[in-house]
Amino acid sequence: MIRIPRRSIDYVTNSSISTLKNANTRLISTCRAVVLPRFGGPEVLEVRHNVGLPDLGASEVLVRTAAVGINPLDCRMRSGYGRSLFEPLLPLILGRDVSGEVAAIGSSVRQLHVGQEVFGALHPTAVRGTYSDYAILSEDELVPKPPSVTHVEASAIPFAALTAWRALKSTARISTGQRVLVIGGGGAVGLAAIQLSVAAGCKVVTTCGKLSIDRVMAAGAEKAIDYTSEDLRTKLEGRFHAVLDTIGLPETEILGVDLLKRGGNYMTLQGEVVSLADTYGLVVGGAAASAKLLKKQVQYRQSHGVEYWWIHMRTDFEGLEEIARLTRAGKMKIPVGKTFPLGEAAEAHHVKESKLASGKVVLEIE
Ligand SMILES: NC(=O)c1ccc[n+]([C@@H]2O[C@H](COP(=O)([O-])OP(=O)(O)OC[C@H]3O[C@@H](n4cnc5c(N)ncnc54)[C@H](OP(=O)(O)O)[C@@H]3O)[C@@H](O)[C@H]2O)c1
Repeated sequence: MIRIPRRSIDYVTNSSISTLKNANTRLISTCRAVVLPRFGGPEVLEVRHNVGLPDLGASEVLVRTAAVGINPLDCRMRSGYGRSLFEPLLPLILGRDVSGEVAAIGSSVRQLHVGQEVFGALHPTAVRGTYSDYAILSEDELVPKPPSVTHVEASAIPFAALTAWRALKSTARISTGQRVLVIGGGGAVGLAAIQLSVAAGCKVVTTCGKLSIDRVMAAGAEKAIDYTSEDLRTKLEGRFHAVLDTIGLPETEILGVDLLKRGGNYMTLQGEVVSLADTYGLVVGGAAASAKLLKKQVQYRQSHGVEYWWIHMRTDFEGLEEIARLTRAGKMKIPVGKTFPLGEAAEAHHVKESKLASGKVVLEIE
């Protein structure tokens, strides 16, 4: 059970339960959440009231959610992606991204305070997600929300931008003057990758659909090539220091590897760790994934002299701080296509999966 001061409405910590016993406090032990009881289509998502709130750990923060960005991972998890890990843990609460207000802090939290507006993202393997009135994140998964952006705008950014950060900054370590190719720059990760590269002083070329061209150019790309109507091989000139492939098809992989300078980094978002674990179980699938990755790494090192990576989003406080700084400066924006109330999460998933919204789909918590 979590204790909340009435004056600021939301305030709760484990440790505060024993200490805050006055008229200004109320207890909450449950909240509203969108729950995934079994894998399936959007219709399996259930809005439940009175969902139990776990106790808050010492380094954790309770966030009263204002907006939650929907990521492709949410829809894939709903359909069963990651079942080797998540099936025994059903029912789950989906959602990685969040923007909202700090409602309570654990006893060792130092950088954030109750009432502060924050945004951030959970790690991909987190079991209790953000599709809820209240989300619980570690202190290092949150940063203050810049006042210049709304909660809806902020919630569209962190998971995608941290994925791009993991690739470009933590893996390829891009630096000023380098050339970066983003294959599939029109989505959230692609747009974040373009903006991170530009902020790092790189020149960016990207492929995207016709309708995304204005968007990727506004994000700072030097050149955008429409993959639906143009021959990428003839249009893509010169070599790149880093290639981020958000699509990860065999043809985009070959294209990306061929276009790298020696010593460059090819990074795909479509690694096979999870799908192999789902097919063969965590142990055998995990071993098969390691072997497959290693084989590709050796192969491309020998054939092209380049490094090959499967990129997985990770929470990264340094990255999140930089992303917040760029957001504050107006240099990190992910367009929002459509918003839905929390109670319409199933419809929001349908719209996201059917590509009926151009831009991020976001749940707004009433
Ligand atoms: N490994 C990880 O940790 C990780 C983390 C985040 C995301 N992902 C994966 O990365 C992918 C992108 O995520 P996201 O959040 O950016 O998704 P998103 O916002 O839904 O964007 C997807 C975009 O991909 C573009 N696209 C599709 N086919 C394309 C092609 N052949 N060539 C160029 N562009 C193409 C489309 O752009 P146009 O509209 O321009 O056609 C679409 O907007 C998803 O598959 C997601 O599951 C992986």
